[in-house]
Amino acid sequence: MQRPPRFTIPEGAHAGTLHRTHVSHIGFVVPDIAAAEAFYCRVLGMKRHSVLPDGRVRLGWGEGHHVIDLSEGDKTLAHYGFEVRDEGGLDGIRARLTEAGIPFDPLDPADVDEAVGTPDGIAVTDPDGTTVHFHSEVRRHGENSADTGRRPIKFQHTTVGTVDVAPMATFYTDVIGFRISDQLDDGNFAWLRSDRDHHTLAIVRVGRSGDIDHYSYDLSEWEDFKTWCDRLTELDVPVSWGPAGMAPETTSSCSSTTPRATTSNSPPRWRSSTTIASPTCRARGRRHPPLSTSGAARHRPGVESERTTSDDLGRISQGRP
Ligand SMILES: [Fe+2]
Repeated sequence: MQRPPRFTIPEGAHAGTLHRTHVSHIGFVVPDIAAAEAFYCRVLGMKRHSVLPDGRVRLGWGEGHHVIDLSEGDKTLAHYGFEVRDEGGLDGIRARLTEAGIPFDPLDPADVDEAVGTPDGIAVTDPDGTTVHFHSEVRRHGENSADTGRRPIKFQHTTVGTVDVAPMATFYTDVIGFRISDQLDDGNFAWLRSDRDHHTLAIVRVGRSGDIDHYSYDLSEWEDFKTWCDRLTELDVPVSWGPAGMAPETTSSCSSTTPRATTSNSPPRWRSSTTIASPTCRARGRRHPPLSTSGAARHRPGVESERTTSDDLGRISQGRP
């Protein structure tokens, strides 16, 4: 049998520079902020943190740094952010961006709400044209403070879609300082780490660039996975679930979607969705018993939000890792 060619995305000298850089927040442009806010509050248990002067709404766990930033317009990914706790991490990123000739701007301190100390940050455009935030330490006490049975405990990872995985992976490894945890042989999917989690960012070839493929939340424990399936069903969110057996990250997942975007002139082709997943491999993660005969749920449960093209209000499905 003739095997397809194997693509290996190389890592440069700066790969692995960051070890304590965590997923922070994500910004979406949505056609109906109120509908999106209602979904996240009703289904994920989020709370409104603030309304900014320009009309943006920030949601989160009720305290600590915000998680989602909603602004109004044609639906797309506005930005995604990382909290850099590595000592000298932001200065290192600035130096490497400068060395690579990539322009960047100071991050608006208002984007670093609940900062520990003086807020500091960088706004830079990734190779696909999406704004990325890297910022200093923020308070995250809201993630585990209360009501863990009715909402996820933390925003876990972001997966962006692209037409070409390699330039994005090279930007994040050679310039920013992430490492590649895994990649598919065909070069169409790469998982990158910047802390102890298996990946904080994944990049998948989907035929278009600069948009979200899906994003994920952690649940607190395995038992919550079953609770979430019941909870979403009670909320009339159609659910499907099962092991998401895409190597190298075997997951079990269930997902739901945000309200469908509706505009009169250009109906959006997709909506954000939320996937509950037995997650994401952690480099030192907990082990769980197999979920079913078709796959081993080896990782801590989580919730994923992803973009889909389906028309139903929500779904729980075998998700992409
Ligand atoms: Fe994922």
